[in-house]
Amino acid sequence: MVMSEWKSEEEVGTYIEQLETPVPVVDLDRLAVNLDRMAAYATLHGLQLRPHVKTHKSPRIAAEQMRRGAMGLTVATLREAEVMSEVCNDLLIAYPPIGAARLERMARLPAEVNLTVAADGVAGITALSLAAKLSRREIGVYVEADLGMHRVGVQGVEDAIALARLASETSQLRFAGLMFYPGHIREDVSEMGAGIERLSNNVQRYCNALVDAGLPPKVVSGGSTPMAWRTHEVPGVTEIRPGTYVYNDRTTALIGACDWEDCALTVAATVVSTAVPGQAVIDAGAKALGREPARADTDGYGALLDQPDVVVARMSEEHGTLDLSRTNWRPRVGDVVRVVPNHVCIVVHLFDEIIGVRGTSVETRWPVAARGRTTGQDVTSTFRTGPRMA
Ligand SMILES: Cc1ncc(COP(=O)(O)O)c(C=O)c1O
Repeated sequence: MVMSEWKSEEEVGTYIEQLETPVPVVDLDRLAVNLDRMAAYATLHGLQLRPHVKTHKSPRIAAEQMRRGAMGLTVATLREAEVMSEVCNDLLIAYPPIGAARLERMARLPAEVNLTVAADGVAGITALSLAAKLSRREIGVYVEADLGMHRVGVQGVEDAIALARLASETSQLRFAGLMFYPGHIREDVSEMGAGIERLSNNVQRYCNALVDAGLPPKVVSGGSTPMAWRTHEVPGVTEIRPGTYVYNDRTTALIGACDWEDCALTVAATVVSTAVPGQAVIDAGAKALGREPARADTDGYGALLDQPDVVVARMSEEHGTLDLSRTNWRPRVGDVVRVVPNHVCIVVHLFDEIIGVRGTSVETRWPVAARGRTTGQDVTSTFRTGPRMA
């Protein structure tokens, strides 16, 4: 469906101020611009776009990404994989494939889904081999390398070669490429030069070693939102997996990876108290905004869309305290404000539904279909040998 057709009859004539708050509100025009811009960047630089769905968790947005040229999707959870298999038959599970219940659930994904999974150890490859046999399918393997994030990933080229070889020699598995996540590069976009140079050297080192070992990676998959726009400076990368770019957030704007006007999702909240001087309390606290700190040199858990100087300075579960010390603006009880959260992915995950608006007019709504982890069915492993308890 084209975004301009999103209008649903029952929403016509409703405005943000009429919604029960707190509620996540997405500016549909900004969303479309964000989707188009990343698709155009990927096309311009000959990169394959495989967006990470963890930000929106919505098949509706995923379908829009596919319509704009994404060649597949990236997921982290099996719930995301199940929901996204309704709109896409090429999924990358960018998460270690460990745990019997996870594997069985993976094996139950629809047979027509072309599955690629990231692995950084022999245990992952062994597990994937089992999942491939269980589901009678071939599974592609991205060997994940740690190129500075220090979260997961092989620690050297020898390990990468060994895993790539193991994957290519294991029946029903296929060595599909090299993957890394540059989440450690989070400085201002204009100051990423040194980090990008280090990353480029590492990517080259891994690629050359794999080529020399007779295992050239068909795909080199990188890309996060903060450094997505500079991916073309890293020779060898063929695929990017940005997620946050669909909505953007305060952190993304603070590091210059988007403009403030590109923040498409805000949490609409109502001022519920102005009793204490110098502040206003809204009905969005940690259960609506998450408790992600901003960058080291910035305070608050979010800032107002219309007045970025006004930040949510403190939060309880259901209360957020706006610091009014940097403004002459004095809201009244009952006013509705819109908060740009520090980390939008966490916020989306806190709500069942998203409201789509144009200006202040409500046009549509859609479920955050892939939030949570349940399937509605029993996900207990049937394997006799259960996981080891640490
Ligand atoms: C493996 C992986 N790829 C891609 C992404 C997307 O990065 P971003 O949130 O910066 O868009 C993430 C984010 O957590 C990730 O973990």
